[in-house]
Amino acid sequence: MPKHPPEPFRIKMVEPIRNLSQAEREAALQRAGYNVFALRAEDVFIDLLTDSGTGAMSQHQWAAIMEGDESYAGARSYFHLAEAMREITGFRFFVPTHQGRAAEGILSSLLVKPGQKVPSNMHFDTTDANIRARQGVPVNLVIEEALDPANPHPFKGNMDIEKLRAFIEAAGVENIPFGMITVTNNAGGGQPVSMENLRQVSAVYREYGIPFFIDACRFAENAYFIKVREPGYADKTPLEIAREMFSLADGATMSAKKDAIVNIGGFLAMNDEALFERAKQALILREGFPTYGGLAGRDLEALAVGLREGLDETYLAYRLGQTAYLTERLAEGGVPVILPPGGHAVYVDAGRLLPHIPHAAFPGQALAVELYRRGGIRGVEIGSVMFAHPDPESGEMVYPDLELVRLAIPRRVYTQSHMDYVAETLIEIAAEAEALRGYRMTYAPELLRHFTARFEPL
Ligand code: F0G
Repeated sequence: MPKHPPEPFRIKMVEPIRNLSQAEREAALQRAGYNVFALRAEDVFIDLLTDSGTGAMSQHQWAAIMEGDESYAGARSYFHLAEAMREITGFRFFVPTHQGRAAEGILSSLLVKPGQKVPSNMHFDTTDANIRARQGVPVNLVIEEALDPANPHPFKGNMDIEKLRAFIEAAGVENIPFGMITVTNNAGGGQPVSMENLRQVSAVYREYGIPFFIDACRFAENAYFIKVREPGYADKTPLEIAREMFSLADGATMSAKKDAIVNIGGFLAMNDEALFERAKQALILREGFPTYGGLAGRDLEALAVGLREGLDETYLAYRLGQTAYLTERLAEGGVPVILPPGGHAVYVDAGRLLPHIPHAAFPGQALAVELYRRGGIRGVEIGSVMFAHPDPESGEMVYPDLELVRLAIPRRVYTQSHMDYVAETLIEIAAEAEALRGYRMTYAPELLRHFTARFEPL
C-alpha cells in the first residue's frame, strides 16, 4: 500500500469555495474580534476549525436519508441504528442524542454530585465543562509522554495507570461517580490509546467498582491505530478491534459527528439498566423521546450507515494517511508539530513556534489569526484561550502545558492539493514567526470562553 493512500472515492457533487483578498480578510478579522469562531464560514477558504459534523456523507448515507422514518415513537430508523449499535458497540442500551455534549450532559446530570471527581486521560472541553457545570472536578491523567510534542510514543493517548491508582486512593472511591477515557485523545493531539492500556484502565476501574465510560468520538480511528501500531492486531478488522475496545467498558458517550461521518448526532450507551431508565427520563426532558433523541428519523438512518462506513479499512488507511501527509510536510518544512501524527488533526506547537509570546498573550491565538490573515485558513486554538483558568484556591492563573493550534481535517472533504496549500502557508508563516504579536482578551464568558471571547492585538 502507498504511504499516503489516495482517496477511496471520487467526487460527485462540488461545493465552491473562494479565498477573499488580504484586505477583506483583515476586515473580517476585525469584525470577528480576532476570534475565528466569529468569522462567517463563507469568508473562510479552507476550514479546518473542526472535523465535527463537517464530513462529506456518502451516496449510501444520502440514500438512507430518503428512507428516514419520521414517526415520533418506535420509528424503523431507530431500529436500524440499534442494530448498528449492537453490532459495533455491543452495549445493552443506548439513547440517541443530538450530539456528544448532550450525552455528556445527561451522564453528568445523573451521576456527578458537587465536589466529586471524574478521571480520564484528558477530558475534551465540553466534557470538562459538563462535569464542572455539576460542580464536579474533571481530572486528566494522561501519560507524561503526551506532554512532550516530540516524543514518538505510539500511544500518547494512554492513561498513566500508576497515577490513576494513586488518584483513586487519594480521592476515595465514593467521590468518583464514574471514570472515562477519550479515544482518540483530542485535547492531547488526537493521539490513540492502546488496547493494552484500555485493558489496564478497565481492570483498575473494575477493581474499585467505578463505572467506566469511553468518550468514543473517534473510536474507529483509534481502532485503526491499534491495528497498525499494536502487536497482535495486524490481522484483525477495525470492527473486531472496536468491539474489543467497547467490551472493556460499561458504556460510552459519542459525538457521531466525528467517526460516524454525519452532520449531527450522538449517543449515550450503557450496560446498566437502572441507569438507562434514568437516562431515558433525562432524555425526554431535554432531547426527545427515547427512540429519536434530539434527531430526525433521517439522521438516525445516516448515522446507522455512517457508523459502519467509518470502520471501513480502506477509508481509514486513506484518512489517517492524509493527516500523516500534512503533519510530515509541516515537520519537513520546519513547523513544530505534535509527533507522531494523530488521527483527525494536525497540532501545530504554537508555544514552540512563538517562544516570544507568553501564555498570557495567547501564542496559539496569534497563530490561528495569522493563518486566516495570510491564507484564509481556519484552525482552532487549543491552549490558554481554551483551558487557562484561575486556581480555585489561590486565584492565580493556571496555564495548560501546551499552546497548540489544531488543524482538524473534515472527513472526505479536502484533497491533497488543499493540504499542500495549507502546508505552504504555514511554512511561510513559520519563516517570519518572530514578527507575530500576542493578543489581549477584551471579553470572555465564564464557561467555554473560546467560542465567544473577543480579542485585541497587542
Ligand atoms: N468529546 C470529544 C473527544 C470531542 O472531540 C467532542 C467534540 C465532544 C466530546 C463533544 O461532541 O461537539 O458533538 O457535542 N469535538 C469537536 C471538535 C467540537 O472540534 O473537536 P459534540
